[in-house]
Amino acid sequence: MQVTLQVRRFNPEAPRAQPYEQEFTLDVPGYFTVLDTLIKVREEMDPTLTLRCSCRASICGSCAMRVNGHAKLVCKTKLTSVMDAQGKVRVAPVGNMPVVKDLVVDMKPFWDKVRGVDPWLQPQGPEPKDEYLAPNEAMVHLTGVMMCIMCGACVSDCTVLEVDSNFLGPAALAKAYRFVGDPRDGAAKGRLGKLSEYGGIWDCTRCYECVQVCPKGVAPMERIMALRDKAIVAGFDKAIGARHTIAFGEIVGHSGRLDELRLVPKTFGMFNPLHLPNLLGMIPVGLRALRRRKLPPIRHKSIPGVENVRRIFKKVEAGQ
Ligand code: FES
Repeated sequence: MQVTLQVRRFNPEAPRAQPYEQEFTLDVPGYFTVLDTLIKVREEMDPTLTLRCSCRASICGSCAMRVNGHAKLVCKTKLTSVMDAQGKVRVAPVGNMPVVKDLVVDMKPFWDKVRGVDPWLQPQGPEPKDEYLAPNEAMVHLTGVMMCIMCGACVSDCTVLEVDSNFLGPAALAKAYRFVGDPRDGAAKGRLGKLSEYGGIWDCTRCYECVQVCPKGVAPMERIMALRDKAIVAGFDKAIGARHTIAFGEIVGHSGRLDELRLVPKTFGMFNPLHLPNLLGMIPVGLRALRRRKLPPIRHKSIPGVENVRRIFKKVEAGQ
């Protein structure tokens, strides 16, 4: 079968180094993966093509790249699953990390953020005589997040990191969940406090990209949402994100639908000088909504059958 790989190249040593696309057309067997094809290109067509791989069995996490715009482990991606009708596949380095050369990126920002969440167990209290014991179900629950192989696919496609490099990102936050959720860890409260700060759990926009691209089903965004719940329960409810979540629930739980006019002041607080710039920043949004006749009614009415909604909220709060 014939395939054309369109590869994003970048050589930092070239004069006026700029990324460019290069096409390689070659014949390969139908069972080839994208990685097999890249290696064939390097061995038979262009020995300067630079890429990183090791296990070739989706274990080591070193071969993450963008294929047709989305991060994948190229060693587990069959060519036939990503070729378009013309037999073309686009390959580029992962995003949100500086490119070293061609398809190789510098993972330092990734590791710095993972280190930033203290990714080790911090038991407290006296040391047990034999060993730390944890309930089986708690550890089974954590196996999902422990599947992470640190490939960086989630970080590559994180839409928040694209605009704010301060965000800890999905991999580091999933790693934080692994320790917050561990019954042997004694530092959960401190961890949740730190994670509630700027750049932490409240900066995720829930775009689902990290869930979609994770090759191991870690579902980082769902771990971030679980961390948010834990943070609120632990009393870290003053961050704007936490206030927004609580206000949203209160309004919908009361009237059955959202009242944006109340949501904004409840989120930022009418008399909180700290959040006054945020509150004032919403005025142009309100004016635009008014001009386009999208402003919600001043008098907010409950939906018919609101008592059913309230009953659901009560049940959820009671954990039924
Ligand atoms: Fe190890 Fe792909 S080469 S995960």
